[in-house]
Amino acid sequence: MDMIIVKGGQPLHGEVAASGAKNAALPILASALLADGTHTFRNVPDLADVATMLEVLRTMGCEAARLTGRKKDVCEVALSGPITPEAPYELVKTMRASVLVLGPLVARFGRARVSMPGGCAIGARPIDQHLKGLKALGAEIHLTEGYVEARAKQLRGGTVNFDVITVTGTENVMMAAALAKGHTVMENCAREPEVEELARVLNKMGARIEGAGTSVITIEGVDSLKPVDHAILPDRIEAGTLLVAAAISGGNVLVKHAQVEHLEAVVDKLREAGCTITVEAGGLRCKAPRTPTAVNITTTEHPGFPTDMQAQLMALMSVSNGTSVISENIFENRFMHVPELHRLGADITIQGHTAVVKGVKGLSGAQVMATDLRASASLILAGLRAEGPTEVSRVYHLDRGYERLERKLRSLGADIRRVKARG
Ligand code: EPZ
Repeated sequence: MDMIIVKGGQPLHGEVAASGAKNAALPILASALLADGTHTFRNVPDLADVATMLEVLRTMGCEAARLTGRKKDVCEVALSGPITPEAPYELVKTMRASVLVLGPLVARFGRARVSMPGGCAIGARPIDQHLKGLKALGAEIHLTEGYVEARAKQLRGGTVNFDVITVTGTENVMMAAALAKGHTVMENCAREPEVEELARVLNKMGARIEGAGTSVITIEGVDSLKPVDHAILPDRIEAGTLLVAAAISGGNVLVKHAQVEHLEAVVDKLREAGCTITVEAGGLRCKAPRTPTAVNITTTEHPGFPTDMQAQLMALMSVSNGTSVISENIFENRFMHVPELHRLGADITIQGHTAVVKGVKGLSGAQVMATDLRASASLILAGLRAEGPTEVSRVYHLDRGYERLERKLRSLGADIRRVKARG
């Protein structure tokens, strides 16, 4: 098992590129199940979660693989022979986003058997809204032996009103409705850029989807779809993380491919914290003061402040010149990084789903443990500021969603390396 050792103190300088978006790549790979033929996906980030999704597709009988050499950011998914519409527990338990095959399978093959994802470190994360949506399109749903069994001779258009705004729920039902007979209206949908990107890909496949990116999506079902060739949009959360790396180190960094329209809430908070964020050709530049100003953060659905950037901003606020209040409203258990930031000398008090962060003059390096994907990023960011070495263990969490983050940070001047964990 690897760990990452980072020695803080160097302001980061230079240019770095954001990779393709994990949370767009996963539903888009699953959407390949909707059409026979060979799909080509470009700018696919080389992440553990992407590898898992390719494995899920292969388990069903697809040919699904990442190309090599100069095309190593390209994945091809080919459906030719029979498909076993099943996603096993062994894979789903490692990546709950595997549930994104449910909608495409029942829509295309009339049945699906997908393991229930179960809870995760950041919350219970039920899928009741995914199932509610599929039922509204006429699917019969049974839960047996820890699996969702969905069946439908032919899905039909309907009205889906989500009780809670759910990203993968919106994506799952949108993929199913694309092949349902008739008209579907989905209300209270997630508006994340990744939902819009999935609709873009489905429409390229021949679907008739309108309104993605707004809270109401309408779909005219079609009989069949065709394979697609698509380059995936940049990862706004990785780009946001790299901007915070510049901010916490007091540096000056251009994050290439970062799109301001996908990061407005994050950019606003970084500007409020005293950073100069400028839109430059091909990206966003962050020029940061030595000490950030304390700001308050409230996580909400897009276009509000993303929960996936909460931990990173908390690391920044831990060295601010004041007190910031951070409220986490999406997941009930997304403060697992707080006790680890305490080990680096941060002053953070949790009250329910709110954290009060009193900025300290400096952090000092220590051994810390990653507990989930974004928590691991926040510990590395804090390490960029801490005096002495910070050793972050369990970085397999990081590799699920960041493509060689330590190399990118090292290219900006960080003293950071990956080593085999002791013992
Ligand atoms: C997506 O997860 C992202 N994952 C998450 O990113 C992200 O944190 C989350 O959206 C919120 O932005 C992917 O896109 C693969 P939700 P998802 O359904 O779709 C409740 C990362 O770090 N809910 O929008 O699983 C749920 O419990 C990951 O990259 C129900 O109650 O999140 C939560 O409180 C972490 N019933 C809220 O809604 C449901 O059926 C939002 O969850 C579905 C969700």
